[in-house]
Amino acid sequence: MSDCLSLSFILICCCFHELHFLSDLINKHIKYLFVCVVEVQCTVHHLTMSINSIYEVAYKGDFNQIKVKVDENVSLVKTTDENGRLLLHWAAIGGNENLVDFLIDNGSAINSIDDTNSSALTLAASAGRLPVVKLLIDRGADVNHQNNRGQSSLHYACSKGHFEIAKLLIEAGANVNKTDNLKATPLHRAAAQGRSNIVELLLQSPALEIDAQDCTGSSPL
Ligand SMILES: *[C@@H]1O[C@H](CO)[C@@H](O)[C@H](O)[C@H]1NC(C)=O
Ligand SMILES: *[C@@H]1O[C@H](CO)[C@@H](O)[C@H](O)[C@H]1NC(C)=O
Ligand SMILES: *[C@@H]1O[C@H](CO)[C@@H](O)[C@H](O)[C@H]1NC(C)=O
Ligand SMILES: *[C@@H]1O[C@H](CO)[C@@H](O)[C@H](O)[C@H]1NC(C)=O
Repeated sequence: MSDCLSLSFILICCCFHELHFLSDLINKHIKYLFVCVVEVQCTVHHLTMSINSIYEVAYKGDFNQIKVKVDENVSLVKTTDENGRLLLHWAAIGGNENLVDFLIDNGSAINSIDDTNSSALTLAASAGRLPVVKLLIDRGADVNHQNNRGQSSLHYACSKGHFEIAKLLIEAGANVNKTDNLKATPLHRAAAQGRSNIVELLLQSPALEIDAQDCTGSSPL
């Protein structure tokens, strides 16, 4: 069982030499690692972002390669992969703001969602991609969008400790009182992860509902 898991990790590491991508993969594809454990099938075939696909190219941010392909066939910007993700989503996760800009210019709807109902902004906020977050906000992305776990971009920025992103989102009108499916607010998420600078930031917000209780009855403080 642990052999199987470590083999999966090694295979993933060999395929992708980027730590950030590895952590995204682990978050997104944890279910496949479990499938692997259960079925003892140590293959990477279950990984849902096809290796060497145009989506991987967008993630890695090769602007020219994507531009050539999109110029050939603009409907690529509206074609999703097996995660329901557009090139836009992968470019946002990869932190490639020029590519994000280009894809929006070429017809990608800015608030498009993937199969977890996450928007490009939610994904970029979670991945800590400040320039992409800035661009998406400037271009009018919905700062209060919530994915299928009820998590907003601000929830992710707060739980993952992305201070500048949290600040930007609040300045752009993100609702600091939003609750996720477990009734946790961004303040709960920041406090639970010990993000004291973000807790302070949230406390400066006059709209903050300070003693909101989540579904376990815990207040943030
Ligand atoms: C353009 O891309 C779309 C989506 O991938 C595909 O369905 C279509 O066949 C392509 N068109 C051409 C002319 O290659
Ligand atoms: C794609 O984007 C570029 C620059 O952002 C723009 O010049 C071009 O007209 C766009 N193409 C389409 C088909 O919208
Ligand atoms: C996800 O998005 C779809 C399409 O917008 C919507 O119908 C559905 O209710 C959403 N699900 C959740 C759990 O947010
Ligand atoms: C947050 O909650 C407080 C207290 O209930 C309320 O006064 C404030 O308007 C709310 N802010 C937002 C942005 O919803």
